[in-house]
Amino acid sequence: MIYVTRKAEFSASHYYHNPSLSPEENRRMFGKCNNPHGHGHNYTLEVTVAGEIDPATGMVLDLKDLKRILEAEVIQLMDHKFLNKEVPAFASKIPTTENIAIEIWNLLAPKLTVGRLHRIRLYETPDLFVDYYGD
Ligand code: NI
Repeated sequence: MIYVTRKAEFSASHYYHNPSLSPEENRRMFGKCNNPHGHGHNYTLEVTVAGEIDPATGMVLDLKDLKRILEAEVIQLMDHKFLNKEVPAFASKIPTTENIAIEIWNLLAPKLTVGRLHRIRLYETPDLFVDYYGD
């Protein structure tokens, strides 16, 4: 088994708000992240695919294909978007780094025809990231 990782970047804004809590509780729990006007992040995404090397190509998968899938499924959906308002999954889920990573997994996993998705690593800042392995 060998692991291939592709990196991509996107910018998006969000805010943290739990509709089942009162405005005061939201402010206490999320602090300045609760500001409904949102704030932006430059996210760095690493998508790792696990697979076996195809002896005909010497590769697990064509990295151009992975780039195309990433672009179509994730970047077009999230780049320069207000995640809470423009990405349907986050109408009902708080767009934390954790939940964004899971959503990216759910978008990509069914689109991979070669190898299998192994890990989504999502950096919210250069010193903070989340790993998701699909379980
Ligand atoms: Ni934030």
